[in-house]
Amino acid sequence: MSGNNDNANREAYVHDSIKEHEFDGIQEFDNKLPNWWLWTLYGAIVFALIYWVVFHTLEIRPLPREDFAAEMQEAQEIQLERAAAAGLSNETFDMMAALEDRVADGREVFVKHCVACHLDDGRGMVGPNLTDSVWVHGCEPMQMYDVVSDGIAAKGMPAWMNQLGPTRVQAVVAYVMTIRDTNIAGKAPEGEPCIY
Ligand code: HEC
Repeated sequence: MSGNNDNANREAYVHDSIKEHEFDGIQEFDNKLPNWWLWTLYGAIVFALIYWVVFHTLEIRPLPREDFAAEMQEAQEIQLERAAAAGLSNETFDMMAALEDRVADGREVFVKHCVACHLDDGRGMVGPNLTDSVWVHGCEPMQMYDVVSDGIAAKGMPAWMNQLGPTRVQAVVAYVMTIRDTNIAGKAPEGEPCIY
């Protein structure tokens, strides 16, 4: 605005070097970038490299997303423990079926002890197809839990509670809940349509 101000500004830039070229009267400064700016840049580059190696190459630390999933899983475990302490119910089985670890444990039990009669994907052979929506003894988790625990001796379904104990029986029921209603073609439906 005032002539004095212009002079002051010019003073401030007296050490600036200006490149020789000029386009339409526009010129370009050629100054060293401020150190704080450069160090922020170098820092960001170093950080990015370390982050890449630690999280993506060597996978020493879990990604935030994985951290979050693990914490959620832990919180759900705690919630389940509390609910189970009050007694087993369909709801506690719903919680178990939502826990990947628990379902994976159940899958292991299933592969070891159940596939002889229900086949590897549960589509049924000696025992009924566990992937359809038709059930002899009901499709509620507590009903399955009773069948798996006590068996149906007259029909050739063994009782598993003594052999496997409650934790593994619960896990395998949680697993069966995840294959239920996936309708894999197999043994013809037996029992009544059931929705849970
Ligand atoms: C020796 C063969 C055999 C094995 C092993 C076996 N089952 Fe069964 N399962 C049967 C038979 C047979 C039935 C049908 C019972 C009936 O019709 O009353 C059955 C029924 C069931 C049912 C009820 C199905 C319905 O329609 O109501 C569930 C759930 C079940 N089994 C789960 C399991 C699990 C879990 C395991 C492994 C821990 C297992 N079974 C191992 C033979 C077997």
